[in-house]
Amino acid sequence: MLNGEYGEAVQLAMRIIVKVGEALRAEKLVEVGHVHISGVSYSNIGDPGLKFIEKLASSNTSFRVFTTVNPTCIDLSGRTSIFSMEYIDGQLRINRALEKLGAYPTYTCIPYEIRRPSPNEHLAWGESNAVAMANSVYGARTNREGGPLTIAAALTGRTYYAGLHLMENRIARYWVRIGYELVDEADASILGLYIGEHLDDIPLIMGTGGWSTYMVKEFLASAAATGSHALVVLDPITPENTYTVADNPENITIDREEIRRFYNKYSSTPEIHDDTLVYIGCPHLSLSEFRYMVEVISRYKCVRRGVTFLFTIPYSLIDTTSKYMDLLRSKGVHVAYGTCPIVSRFRDKPGKVLTNSGKALFYLSRLHGLDVSLLGFRDIVERVMVK
Ligand code: F3S
Repeated sequence: MLNGEYGEAVQLAMRIIVKVGEALRAEKLVEVGHVHISGVSYSNIGDPGLKFIEKLASSNTSFRVFTTVNPTCIDLSGRTSIFSMEYIDGQLRINRALEKLGAYPTYTCIPYEIRRPSPNEHLAWGESNAVAMANSVYGARTNREGGPLTIAAALTGRTYYAGLHLMENRIARYWVRIGYELVDEADASILGLYIGEHLDDIPLIMGTGGWSTYMVKEFLASAAATGSHALVVLDPITPENTYTVADNPENITIDREEIRRFYNKYSSTPEIHDDTLVYIGCPHLSLSEFRYMVEVISRYKCVRRGVTFLFTIPYSLIDTTSKYMDLLRSKGVHVAYGTCPIVSRFRDKPGKVLTNSGKALFYLSRLHGLDVSLLGFRDIVERVMVK
């Protein structure tokens, strides 16, 4: 591939991977079973990124491995009016080019719901929450990759053998006990934000067996947002033989009081304003999570005046979930497919956001300057829905 026998695009892709591998002292390359491309939102990469991807797509080559794509900056159903559609032309051109290369039009940040990784399988995934899930829940091996590297891996079917691909780098160095009971996904989110901010190496969290899958997902997404955590060992969830523990790990106990103080630093009081956005779906909801939430919503009459209620879910669920749309619309609830408020732009910025996601809290408050509060889904629904 490096010599150009598979064409110019593959040669360029191979050069990128080899260069990164050399910088990280990788001994060799390794084949990957699944690539997840991130960083392809037109609002971020603009015309230069669009031209690069279109050039690849015109080169008569295609992806060599199963490839999924992260959310982009437009609602692909075109039904919600919450997000700006100013980038629709550029984004659709990027999407068409990626699909021509062979990417599956998933447009979601939960690729593990599309194809479940196996323990010790090598992947090349972008998107921090997906990477944390792949390593920590499924025991697969992937580093946190950027957009260009994931495209290069899709074109070659390979990545460099360094970082979390090696067992010697999958060593837990903190032994963490949680000294209180987590009640819901918002609680798990706050703990994740705390761990991401305070621990600078791989932790092993004890006693996670009672956490729901949704709590685990929100916890990992939050830890990956405030820290660079790509692997958090969860006992007893993370498969054995996919990590080791240091001989003398540092023992840490986190208590409720410490977390309460930390929560107050991050989250403002959950008062509802006249222009409040409720945002559920960071990371995107799986089909079962979405169905459960629709069932809860169906018990209420409608959303309170002044509140906009938004779910974000994978574009690949557009057909399966269409039957719920009339019901949700009748309650005043919006569903956006293949995007989220963090990678897109609001048509009108809300004055207040309520969310159950620590990752959304982090990005919407820190990067977008919004006033955000964190509460569990059930608590939010109680506050913003009319009986
Ligand atoms: Fe996904 Fe957007 Fe959150 S890409 S993880 S919903 S920031």
